Amino acid sequence: MTEADIIIIGSGIGALSVAGELCKNGRKVLVITKGLKKSCNSSLAQGGISVALSDKDNYEWHYEDTMAAGCNLNDSDAVMKLVSTAPNVIRELIDTGMEFDRDSQGNLMFGREAAHRLNRVIHAGGDRTGLRVVEQLIRNLTTDVTVIQNQMALDLRVKDGKCYGVITKDSDGNLHTYHANYVVLATGGIGQLYPSTSNDVTITGDGIAMAYRAGAKLKNLEFVQFHPTMLTIDGQAYGLVSEACRGAGGILVNEKGEKIMEGVHPLKDLAPRDVVAREVYAHYLKGEKIFLDISAVDDFKSKFPTVTEICEDNGVDVSKNLIPVAPGAHFHMGGVEATPDGLTNIDGLFAVGETACTGVHGANRLASNSLLEGLVFGKFLADYILTHHRKVGNIIDDVPETTVDNLPTKKEIQRKMMEYVGIVRHSNEIHNIIDWFKQYMPDGKDFVKLNPEKTTEEQYEIYNMLTTGYLVAKSAMDRHESIGAHYIVKDEK
Ligand code: SIN
Repeated sequence: MTEADIIIIGSGIGALSVAGELCKNGRKVLVITKGLKKSCNSSLAQGGISVALSDKDNYEWHYEDTMAAGCNLNDSDAVMKLVSTAPNVIRELIDTGMEFDRDSQGNLMFGREAAHRLNRVIHAGGDRTGLRVVEQLIRNLTTDVTVIQNQMALDLRVKDGKCYGVITKDSDGNLHTYHANYVVLATGGIGQLYPSTSNDVTITGDGIAMAYRAGAKLKNLEFVQFHPTMLTIDGQAYGLVSEACRGAGGILVNEKGEKIMEGVHPLKDLAPRDVVAREVYAHYLKGEKIFLDISAVDDFKSKFPTVTEICEDNGVDVSKNLIPVAPGAHFHMGGVEATPDGLTNIDGLFAVGETACTGVHGANRLASNSLLEGLVFGKFLADYILTHHRKVGNIIDDVPETTVDNLPTKKEIQRKMMEYVGIVRHSNEIHNIIDWFKQYMPDGKDFVKLNPEKTTEEQYEIYNMLTTGYLVAKSAMDRHESIGAHYIVKDEK
């Protein structure tokens, strides 16, 4: 048994933001991550950070754009907290040495992304913003933060509505039990539940599944954002082609060179992401190939080094100006219900970043608000811990007896998710996937806790995918009207 004050599960921007703030104040933190410390969605994020820092902008507009993208299903207080605090949090990050892209006069450059009324997105290293911010946040950590890599959190230690720590397994199969005053879930979203995704391979919905087994409240799980432009060759996705490419003049065209967003939405290629994703998908289902035409983008290679690299690694020559694209799962607006301070309904359990549902994104996230959420609400969460006292005793864990075998493959789960709870859902079909999931409930009634000794890491990942997929499907079935990223049709398939 290891004693810790604060444990953070996950290592993306939300996790690092919490850890950085806590260690600055002398608190000891343990960060536990299933992969390597940079294996997170944040490191892959190409977009940037939206923040009302330009003298042409103000945070009320950022608020309005966030609410409009989220179809007003957002928690308006949480949105106001996010956008009004953002400029200061970014200034503080810059003060720690973070370098965002600037023009020749040294002014911050603001890029454009979908559904923003003006240029508001700051970048670092062109399309390498996420990685650069992760690197800076890691540099900001002190020796009070210990990072344990290649160790998977299996289940939270919870009794009578209180969290006492976490049980993990390392890559040699050894179990570890941690006792902690605070546990923060920062495991990212659910991208790997779908066959095409921009997410890291480690992102299998673990946070939601663990929280569910611990009795945490979950919210808005039906809202899964699909990004319209993943580099896609022969049905296989190879990485994100940032929306900033469209912000810089890229246009979606079919094989004949016709612009597919003409007449679909007044904002055309910069329409809200769900609208563009559905349009690209509709063409894709008809067997048409869709391309991002980048001929109008100046200096593409220097502005988009990551996209260029992904294309070149996969045999696509960007100098020919046509990048083959199709949509892929990108971001989960739903998650563990949490306040902007990260509080959940379980005492001592917190959630931050994509794992949390603070309500800021509503039914559809505004582009480049996710790194921002991790930074701002990560700081709020740390401030909460710093200003409150919690010291819990220990508990004796009840070790569950349940084991699993005959699990499906990850690919099977991904195919089913795309078919039934993907970009377009059919109300009279969703029950099929719910029934399919139910056959894997070990006791026939629920996705209960498993025996950690008799369950491998791979089995846990699959089980977490089944659990989270089941919960997403149930939420999708319960929301009868289309809104934002939840698009449901009532006709026969
Ligand atoms: C992108 O670069 O297109 C993604 C940005 C985001 O998801 O906010």
